[in-house]
Amino acid sequence: MREEPADIVIRNASELLTMAGGVKAGRRMREPGIITGADIAVRDGRITAVGRSLPFKGETEIDATGKVVMPGFVDTHTHLVFAGSRESELEMKIEGLSYMEILRQGGGILSTVRATRSAPLSEIVRESENRLDTMLDFGTTTAEAKSGYGLDPETEMKLLKAVEELNSFHEVDLVPTFLGAHAVPPEFEGNTEGYVDLIINEMLPEIAEENKKRTEEGKPPLARFVDVFCEKGVFSVEQSGRILEAGKGYGLIPRLHADEIVWTGGAELAAEVGAASADHLLRVSDNGIRAMAEKGVTGVLLPATPLMLLQTEFADGRKMVDSGMRVALATDLNPNCYTESMQLAITLACVYSHLTPAEALTASTINAAGVLGLEKEVGSLEPGKKADILVLDVPNHLHIPYHFGVNLVELVVKGGEIVRF
Ligand code: NIG
Ligand code: FE
Repeated sequence: MREEPADIVIRNASELLTMAGGVKAGRRMREPGIITGADIAVRDGRITAVGRSLPFKGETEIDATGKVVMPGFVDTHTHLVFAGSRESELEMKIEGLSYMEILRQGGGILSTVRATRSAPLSEIVRESENRLDTMLDFGTTTAEAKSGYGLDPETEMKLLKAVEELNSFHEVDLVPTFLGAHAVPPEFEGNTEGYVDLIINEMLPEIAEENKKRTEEGKPPLARFVDVFCEKGVFSVEQSGRILEAGKGYGLIPRLHADEIVWTGGAELAAEVGAASADHLLRVSDNGIRAMAEKGVTGVLLPATPLMLLQTEFADGRKMVDSGMRVALATDLNPNCYTESMQLAITLACVYSHLTPAEALTASTINAAGVLGLEKEVGSLEPGKKADILVLDVPNHLHIPYHFGVNLVELVVKGGEIVRF
């Protein structure tokens, strides 16, 4: 048989997880599309074929015997861009202070806001680049990145520009989200309404203007999504709804931090505004689950966050999947929950949210891509898709959550290039 040329061929994976068949809801998340003894061929940055004994000759040939090949992870919820760190808060939490108490004392998000406001753009880019490098080491090839540590027009813009700059040179593809409504800044203490007005009347129009410019120049937008921390004592459901509707009016797609610490009806709001996702959901109501399943709003589990809040309760991922919801999984990388590892998120989602390994892997790839509107481009290994491929040093996919606390990723192909080996 004549062999066709390819740039890279990865051969004989003990399991190749195609994740084919698009975004999956409910029990369909248990279908990772496993092909045993499979090859995958790549040319010009794209996947050209997947199957057994492919008739291709690769310029580079990689033997994946005894290993798992799967799509690169899509980390669909990160607070990648910030300055500084908050390691001392771990001690405060050990001593019994809660996340909201730390925030009310001017720590938490507000302490990162102070550090971020005073840091130049170049420093934020440099610090965030290190995190992106680690993400790629651990197999993340596409990620969402939120603003939200500026909380004033100038610094929020600085953060979105940092994401734009990182996206222009780093291998990991980034999708930007405007999270001006992450907390109420100190200058608006006691005047949340005033800050909501600032977001709606100043920040969102400015972003819309910048997005328009970039569209005309054929560039990606400065922000694709608008997000809100909808939580008791932060932004109410009513305020969140107004911000998200205003964002929608400017062409941004809504997402929410919802029902994390107490139930507020954030999931119900997500369904009402047609959000791409509602994230956290530790306190989501049955009604909220039903509404999200009905409207096809993805629930994003972030189990590393309750872990680092020293909580024993986690989101009920099992119930969400069994109720027919689409579920995705992400790190929530931020200065409170400082991890770049989707592999850790997968282990935690299995252990504490009771997803099966196959469900957690679907949640980390094709379903996560779906949240970002990228399910046609990444998140599965199918001909025509971007060649974002991982080789993991494990004999089958059950080992991915099981063998935890170490990096199982051995090789990363990003856009058809081997970027980690
Ligand atoms: O998703 N809950 C609000 N926002 C982030 C945490 C941000 C921070 O603590 O710096 C989250 O967990
Ligand atoms: Fe978050």
